[in-house]
Amino acid sequence: MPDIERLLAEMTLAEKIGQLNMLAAGFTVTGPVLAGDITGGVREGRIGSVLNVFGVKAVHRLQLMAVEGTRLGIPLLFGFDVVHGQRTIFPVPLAEAAAMDPVLWERTAREAAMEAARDGVALTFAPMIDVSRDPRWGRIVEGPGEDPTVASLFAEAKVRGFQGRDLASPSAVGATAKHFVAYGAPAAGRDYASVDVSERTLHEVYLPPFEAAVKAGVVAVMPAFHDLAGEPMTAHGDLLDRWLRVRTGFDGVVISDYHAVAELIDHGVAADVAEAAALALKAGVDIDMMGYAYEAGLPKALDRGLVDMADVDRAVRRVLALKQRLGLFDAPYGRGTAALDEDHAAGVRALAREAARRSVVLLDNAAGVLPFPDTVRRIALVGPLGDAPYDMLGSWSAAGDGAEAVSILNGLRAAMPGSQVRFAAGVPIDGNDEAGIAAAIDLCRQADAVVLAIGEGANMSGEAASRSSLDLPGRQRALAEAVLDLGKPTVAVICAGRPLAVDWLVGRAGATLAAWFLGSEAGNAIADILTGAASPSGRLPLSWPRNLGQVPIFFAERTGGRPDDPADRFTSKYLDVPNTPLFPFGHGLTYGDVTIAGVDVERTEITADEAFDIVVDLRNEGRVAAEETVFLFARDLVASVARPAMDLKSIARCALAPGESGTVVFSLPARDLSFPGRDLRPVLEPGEFELMVGPSADRKRLIPTRVRVLGDRRSANG
Ligand code: BGC
Repeated sequence: MPDIERLLAEMTLAEKIGQLNMLAAGFTVTGPVLAGDITGGVREGRIGSVLNVFGVKAVHRLQLMAVEGTRLGIPLLFGFDVVHGQRTIFPVPLAEAAAMDPVLWERTAREAAMEAARDGVALTFAPMIDVSRDPRWGRIVEGPGEDPTVASLFAEAKVRGFQGRDLASPSAVGATAKHFVAYGAPAAGRDYASVDVSERTLHEVYLPPFEAAVKAGVVAVMPAFHDLAGEPMTAHGDLLDRWLRVRTGFDGVVISDYHAVAELIDHGVAADVAEAAALALKAGVDIDMMGYAYEAGLPKALDRGLVDMADVDRAVRRVLALKQRLGLFDAPYGRGTAALDEDHAAGVRALAREAARRSVVLLDNAAGVLPFPDTVRRIALVGPLGDAPYDMLGSWSAAGDGAEAVSILNGLRAAMPGSQVRFAAGVPIDGNDEAGIAAAIDLCRQADAVVLAIGEGANMSGEAASRSSLDLPGRQRALAEAVLDLGKPTVAVICAGRPLAVDWLVGRAGATLAAWFLGSEAGNAIADILTGAASPSGRLPLSWPRNLGQVPIFFAERTGGRPDDPADRFTSKYLDVPNTPLFPFGHGLTYGDVTIAGVDVERTEITADEAFDIVVDLRNEGRVAAEETVFLFARDLVASVARPAMDLKSIARCALAPGESGTVVFSLPARDLSFPGRDLRPVLEPGEFELMVGPSADRKRLIPTRVRVLGDRRSANG
């Protein structure tokens, strides 16, 4: 293990800057600057880390050049976007969030890390923990949805899973919490656009998941591309340094987003590359990803006195420390040497299927079409997502191979060997071609049931994939209407990276599923749900709007002075649609029939240092086993600032056999009822709170109780 200070003392300026320079090589292009041949730069020590290279041979070849071929032999750090799997692809994060299960989130991250590490990757640019309430934004698919509590649990679980217990182990990868911060709220939902959220919303909604990631030990943070109220995040010293490092204690590396340091010039806050480099370095950005801005700009910035050597050294120290923590000095070829174990690979596919199954949300089953009874022998699968294995992977599919993904068609055929499953796309995902509708309708006429596989292509969400409409693209609605007109038992399976505006469909289809992009095992998982081999258990991680005009829509709104009252026109509402979403946050049906039999708070008055125990009795009155999720919300009834009508505090899950009763117990510390006070410091204000327990954020289904926190107003930190 090297002595970092001694190493630093030996380094030339060019070698130091090299450690701050991350370049892409090879396989994947994620931005406007293309990967070139970086081997010369590696040999000269001008490149300290590399992105988008994976596979043992390629990684070790470059590593050899750095370790054996450079003056100081400092190993390279290999980073890659392992967002929801490396070779085995798990559900997209928005889908997996629907499983509402931190244990699952951690398990899939662990497996993804093991596969990535086996490919030589030492750092993933994940988890993406951007809360978003705007489904126009394509990157909503990469994150955990609308709620900061869910996002915080997701952040912790993913960091633990990726990093494992020992970062230096050849099966661990470092995690990067991104994109810091409020990237999920771009103006008009357009990717890369400016963000203008209040300080309060920043502290209540967007920062908490990053704090959770830091507490879980995340080793890297990536600032986002946007400007926040005029300050580009890549140069935001207040947040990157004073909030992230000083206040939350983050001690890892800050890595810019792709080319983002150089883009400070385009933002209009730097006149040239020297100013751009100086702004980013001073703000606390240690690594310049794909910008060459540090390489070209830092020497000039030093000459001009915009930065000094101590600023450079600080960043280099952090990079070297990260390499050390990842075990790269001791074992530069450690990742990639473990042999592939066949049994383990089969286990990973099984986990991908389990995760996919548990990410499906049964939105509606009013006609009781699902699960299919044995009498369903002839199935017509129609729609452009029916046989689309590549799309099943969704955006950021790393080293996943669409050819190995299970389409809905193949999944259904495998699950129903005694039945006939026939397929017709009907229409393409996008475009105006309706020529195939007639043949698809013929197929439906001959079937006992129809599966309508509709939605978006994988490339219609993700980075640089915002949409100004939430409608089904192309002529899919025409296909769907023609199918629905037949009056056959029809299940709509919606594959998409965002909620789509389908109020016209729900209810007319006998059942509707949100099937997102479920990854390598998508088709098998969907078949498990349709056949009843598994009972659906996913719950929406966001409010599903009725139409685009309701966006941004989220349950944690403040009530305002004129909350919606049907009897009073002059209250907050639309003339044309209700305020409520089509489906609330947390919504998701099972094949069981679980009811909350009672909610009991053991002590309704406690002091600030105590916790409420809330006991919830559940009963499955259905004939099928169910995995139920229960949410605990709170409302501070009178506070120094207006509080959300509902604030999510906790989630619990309970598996119940038919006829079985069960109990979940929430333990809610009083300090969890604190909030950013008028000075934005966390404060607990004693007094009355309403606690609400239920299966979703639908107020009509929540069971309320009143409790009281005793004592004086106090800072939650002190
Ligand atoms: C994305 C990041 C990603 C990076 C590297 C950027 O365009 O915004 O999320 O980690 O590329 O691939």
